Amino acid sequence: MFNKDMPYRRMGKSGLTLSALALGGWTTYGAAVKDEKTIETIIRAAFERGVNFFDISDVYERGEAEKSMGRVFAKLPRHELVISSKVFWPMSDDVNDKGLSRKHIMESVNKSLKRIGADYLDLYFCHRPDPDTPLEETIRAMDDLVRQGKVLYWGTSEHSGAQIREIAEICATRGCYAPAVEQPQLSLIKRKRYLDEVAPAAREKGLGVVTWSPLASGLLSGKYDNGLPEGSRLKRAEGLRATYLTDENRNRVKKMKAIADEVGCTRSQLAIAWCLDQPGVTSVITGATRPEQLTENLGALKVKLTGDVKSKLEALFVE
Ligand SMILES: NC(=O)c1ccc[n+]([C@@H]2O[C@H](COP(=O)([O-])OP(=O)(O)OC[C@H]3O[C@@H](n4cnc5c(N)ncnc54)[C@H](OP(=O)(O)O)[C@@H]3O)[C@@H](O)[C@H]2O)c1
Repeated sequence: MFNKDMPYRRMGKSGLTLSALALGGWTTYGAAVKDEKTIETIIRAAFERGVNFFDISDVYERGEAEKSMGRVFAKLPRHELVISSKVFWPMSDDVNDKGLSRKHIMESVNKSLKRIGADYLDLYFCHRPDPDTPLEETIRAMDDLVRQGKVLYWGTSEHSGAQIREIAEICATRGCYAPAVEQPQLSLIKRKRYLDEVAPAAREKGLGVVTWSPLASGLLSGKYDNGLPEGSRLKRAEGLRATYLTDENRNRVKKMKAIADEVGCTRSQLAIAWCLDQPGVTSVITGATRPEQLTENLGALKVKLTGDVKSKLEALFVE
């Protein structure tokens, strides 16, 4: 729902406009949060505060995120929503139920649409590059989905600068619809790849950028300063804990508090505000297991970052 306090940004050179903050369902809806009422409360609150872009994938809890978020979308005006899903990761042990082959893409989009309860996806992402499928096969399949109206815009996720350029060039040569958006990871602790190679390629080829894990799975909120809170993501997910919760990161996040205090905001708000300020970013996809987290994170939109604050943050989180 349009909200004057939400900035809206054009997605690259496409005609689509996204809210600067988006909400995603990874490890959360249908997984950590199974209660339908809580899921509806969070999604509705985001929608009422002006979030129009909701990000999902088929693989998030093997379809459960699509189903649980889709049940809420059914109660909201479809034309005001930008709904995405993704394809690539295995959905079963079947040899063809993975990757970016024409077969997997064509079957997956139909399954995603059914689970979400939608006639079309606004955005459909190749979740990762697939070294086993010729690029042209994937491009032709995505182009067909756009022509069929099942997908309005297609995109890539975690593709390198070279891959973004190569795909755009093949599409231009063949007259195919080209990716309109890339979805990279971006946060204070994971920024080098985006800034060094993805952002320049996306700008050159006219792609919008929607970024993921602005809080590094919650680490940057400071909630792990003194241990592992019960029910938190890094308590639940051992792999993510090993990736993010190093002594060095914990110390940096503790030091970040002084910078947030100086600005007069929370660490979560500061981390998200930093992402919003990065070149080429159309929308920052956040996650929330509780309505209070969403409310806090939306407060990032009001944070004003000075050059001095940015320099301090970037010096603290050297990658
Ligand atoms: N394309 C890709 O490969 C890819 C990969 C990952 C994610 N994504 C997308 O990006 C979205 C966002 O990623 P993310 O969920 O990792 O974002 P994130 O903002 O880094 O982490 C969100 C999690 O941090 C905790 N949190 C959020 N706000 C908090 C606050 N104010 N205080 C304390 N804890 C807070 C919550 O977890 P707990 O309450 O459980 O601790 C929440 O679920 C995903 O949902 C997905 O749509 C895409």
